[in-house]
Amino acid sequence: MKTDNRQIISPRGDAEGAAYILGIESSCDDTSAAVLKDGFLLSNVTASQAVHEAYGGVVPELASRAHQQNIVPVVDAALKQAGIEREQLSAIAFTRGPGLMGSLLVGVSFAKGLAASLGIPMIDVNHLHGHVLAHFIKEAPPSNSPLKGEDSGQKISPLRGDLEVSPSFPFLCLLVSGGNSQIVLVKSYKEMEIIGQTIDDAAGEAIDKCSKVMGLGYPGGPIIDKLARQGNPDAFTFAKPNIAGYDYSFSGLKTSFLYNLRDWLKDDPDFIEHHKCDLAASLEKTIVDILMKKLRLAARDLKIKQVAVAGGVSANTGLRNAFHDYARRYGWQIFIPRFSYTTDNAAMIAITGYFKYLDKDFCPMSAPAYSRVSEQ
Ligand code: KG4
Repeated sequence: MKTDNRQIISPRGDAEGAAYILGIESSCDDTSAAVLKDGFLLSNVTASQAVHEAYGGVVPELASRAHQQNIVPVVDAALKQAGIEREQLSAIAFTRGPGLMGSLLVGVSFAKGLAASLGIPMIDVNHLHGHVLAHFIKEAPPSNSPLKGEDSGQKISPLRGDLEVSPSFPFLCLLVSGGNSQIVLVKSYKEMEIIGQTIDDAAGEAIDKCSKVMGLGYPGGPIIDKLARQGNPDAFTFAKPNIAGYDYSFSGLKTSFLYNLRDWLKDDPDFIEHHKCDLAASLEKTIVDILMKKLRLAARDLKIKQVAVAGGVSANTGLRNAFHDYARRYGWQIFIPRFSYTTDNAAMIAITGYFKYLDKDFCPMSAPAYSRVSEQ
């Protein structure tokens, strides 16, 4: 049975008729909820799941269970921090996919239940669009904002600062996370064309796997980043892919890292301990070079000067530095997200939802979660 929620939109908000959007994100291992008022962020609360650290990667079953525990307190905290009652909400935006099915189902089911009980529309959001549109998150000016960057004991994203400039269309976005490495041509809030993407591993996945091989913790990205700051990026060379167009490949690099390390360990069993900073710096440099080369090619061919970066790997210091370097060399206007908006967060889901809300682009109650974009 198909239900069209367009019929049940009801005016909510406050006396001024403001639109309050609740965003919910649960695609992987972060449970996050955010509230926007007329497009301005009032709260963004995230509970991260430390349970996966012991396993060297996200365990889907454990992630779903943790989402179940976190979703109610996280949404409550987001509403409280925003200073609104749930009855004031105008719509609920939620990540429908892609991601881990069990994790998504928690957020999707919660969103459906809450929307049904309040009689308000639901807005489905593609998680990857959320990452790209994180560049449009506007925090309310400090005088109007309830955001205090407070920490409730869980790992809450700190929020502070004032308004920033957003890119204008069309722009290019390098979307790099644990599951994706894409060059996206962003034509509008809704029209996004993937012009290049990895044919095997994602950049974040490669970093995480190399970190695991070195016996470092999970996720590897922040650890490699920290070690790389003290290492020589030219100490070692690893294989770089040679594929056509704007596509990426990181599996060859991962294998080259593994095989080289195996040989070096034969001569020196403590090789990793002796060289971990240089290994991290050289690995980071190789990955950043691969990412930037294709991005530069796309920007040059398409004659686009506004270039953004998004996703978990956009927190990487080497990659951020490379963006500044390319801005100087090629006259790019660059857009680098705040750290709190690099990893998965509900603020990006809420802002994407807000744009769809303005278009009355709602989804039916029957909308299922999807783990891959192709299942949408
Ligand atoms: O976007 P994200 O939080 O999750 C999804 O994959 O959806 O990205 C996680 C990825 C992980 O591979 C993690 O190691 C990487 O982002 N990462 C970093 C850094 N912080 C997180 N990679 C490099 N440098 C960092 N500072």
